[in-house]
Amino acid sequence: MSSRIIPVPAFDYVVFGATGDLTKRKLIPALYHRFKDGQFDENSRIIGASRSKLTEADFQKTAREAIQQFVEKEYQDQAVIDRFIKIFTYVPVDASKPEESGDLGAALRDDPAIVRAFYLAVAPDLFEPIAEYLDAKKLYRRDARVVIEKPLGHDLESSIAINDGVSKIFQEDQVYRIDHYLGKETVQNLLALRFANTLFEPVWNSAHIDHVQLTVAESVGAGTRGYYDESGALRDMIQNHMLQLLCLVAMEPPASDDANALRDEKLKVLRALRRITNGDVAKNTVRGQYRGVKSETVSVAGYQDELPEEKKGSRTETFVALKAEIENWRWSGVPFYLRTGKRMAERVSEICIQFKPIPHSIFDHAEGAPRPNKLIIRLQPDEGVKLMLMNKDPGPGGMRLREVALNLSFAQAFNERTPEAYERLLMDVVRGSQTLFMRRDELEAAWMWVDPIREAWDRSSEPPQSYTAGTWGPSGAVALIERDGRSWYEGPLS
Ligand code: BG6
Repeated sequence: MSSRIIPVPAFDYVVFGATGDLTKRKLIPALYHRFKDGQFDENSRIIGASRSKLTEADFQKTAREAIQQFVEKEYQDQAVIDRFIKIFTYVPVDASKPEESGDLGAALRDDPAIVRAFYLAVAPDLFEPIAEYLDAKKLYRRDARVVIEKPLGHDLESSIAINDGVSKIFQEDQVYRIDHYLGKETVQNLLALRFANTLFEPVWNSAHIDHVQLTVAESVGAGTRGYYDESGALRDMIQNHMLQLLCLVAMEPPASDDANALRDEKLKVLRALRRITNGDVAKNTVRGQYRGVKSETVSVAGYQDELPEEKKGSRTETFVALKAEIENWRWSGVPFYLRTGKRMAERVSEICIQFKPIPHSIFDHAEGAPRPNKLIIRLQPDEGVKLMLMNKDPGPGGMRLREVALNLSFAQAFNERTPEAYERLLMDVVRGSQTLFMRRDELEAAWMWVDPIREAWDRSSEPPQSYTAGTWGPSGAVALIERDGRSWYEGPLS
């Protein structure tokens, strides 16, 4: 089976922050793959913009190096790279010093048939000045698109300020807020699983589902990114990626895959989340911070060890587990347990939908009690879907019950390279499809839910619970779910 490539219209993509990490690691490799697959050709342009006084040749060199470094060797095709590099050009731009900036207008084509997109891969405090610069230079068009990405604020208030700044110039239907989780193939597959099959919808509710678990565990540490210490896992992962996953699992079927139909349903979920405030924060949330390990065989630095001197003693959480509840007809009484952390036992992102136990067992004398069915959606790695069913262990010896998985491995079923999230998202911007991007009201509703948790933590004298690097987080996370008579799903990898 091979993918069907639908070419996008020719575009001028201006990337502000052209020399930054995101551009090199994600944007250039993603655009390269789309070019290589023939989704666009030499009629499109990628225009780097940043404060550095680079030349076109310098930027082309940067792009070539980014491909060499961040595209898997087997996909590096020299002839394609040579053609691709030619669509790169560069203009030095400092939005706060227009007089010292190059002529961005000259690099853009004044043709309404050519899509115009501005990717702001820069700090959010530059969004508004750049938007105003574009307007002042008459580079704004009503059909132009602007792409922005987190951190879109650190709380509701700052998020409103950022959006207000961008919306001085751009209207909501021009703003593409990236949450890269929505671009992941497996996350989009959630929509297919739920809404392209009849099997699940009748049981997708509190009558049949006991609870839902969402785990996004990373084995890497927080690293030395200054941003992380300001953010912490709640803002870095829960407010955006994990709440988006929760919305896709919990939302009502939208009438179509139209951007607003889908986003309306996600918004309803966010608004139905029960606020976790004051006393409930200690009961329903756990935050942790990893400590290092040093033995003869392993040596891993703890979070504090990686911090610069002035930040030592930081209480930033590198792990969060929490119990969320959705107050609506479908989900009343069905907890959603979320957990995410750095330096955990393995890198795994998955959703576990656990169904209710059978009402009555006829297998009193059987070996092995029937266990509730589970639907496991593995987002990464080893993408796939597993349905855990009870089976009879074959052979003589009476009735022995065993849990076995109906296993759909994407690698085996599709045998294709899985595109990176940014590939899909960058092309959706050109197509003008906002379905996989967050609308302003969604973003704000997510902050409204997260802010009281953050505030209660800030007020609390309790520091985050410590957990050893390479484990599944602090003991409090286990207690959080076990208190309800449940446990975290830590199934076998295959
Ligand atoms: C980013 C976070 O948004 O997502 C990082 O800022 C995190 O801290 C990353 O590591 C995880 O993304 P992925 O695609 O590797 O699961």
